[in-house]
Amino acid sequence: MSHAEDHEGTRRDFLYYATAGAGAVTAGAAVWPLVHQMNPSADVLAMSSIRVDVSDIQPGTQLTVKWLGKPVFIRRRTQAEIDEARAVTLDDLSIDKSSQNENKPGSDAMDENRSIDEAGEWLVMIGVCTHLGCVPLGDGAGEFNGWFCPCHGSHYDTSGRIRKGPAPDNMYVPIAAFDGDELVLG
Ligand code: FES
Repeated sequence: MSHAEDHEGTRRDFLYYATAGAGAVTAGAAVWPLVHQMNPSADVLAMSSIRVDVSDIQPGTQLTVKWLGKPVFIRRRTQAEIDEARAVTLDDLSIDKSSQNENKPGSDAMDENRSIDEAGEWLVMIGVCTHLGCVPLGDGAGEFNGWFCPCHGSHYDTSGRIRKGPAPDNMYVPIAAFDGDELVLG
């Protein structure tokens, strides 16, 4: 089996369209040029809050939803992914030491400040490379087993933190919270 076939066969990204008529979210191909306009104003958020049933997402898989015109990665991490993310210290993070988490403004990039739940099972991020806006590849891609952006070679770890390459920031964590089995974005 070729590498490509193997990747396809084990690929666990799923696409979910929160907006009727939304275009396809294509990993590695689509470009969102407005990287620095990712934080919508409060009134836009209030009108565009969505709920996503995440009860079917298995550990080690990721759901991608389209929200406010951008892909959002909802990953349910395995214990190994959590352990790897939590073993990283701030000294290991030479590019961005900020959590980039709108739910915890001003906090540092320790994994505890990146996940939505305390145990670290759920990682929710705007699925856009912070360099120039490509959609990174997931499923343990890249040198740090998280996400890899093939456009210019940015490597993100299992917490979505930039570890190598030209991207300046960790992938952004949007306002998100659980309500039972549903994740509420915005
Ligand atoms: S857009 Fe991702 S590395 Fe340049």
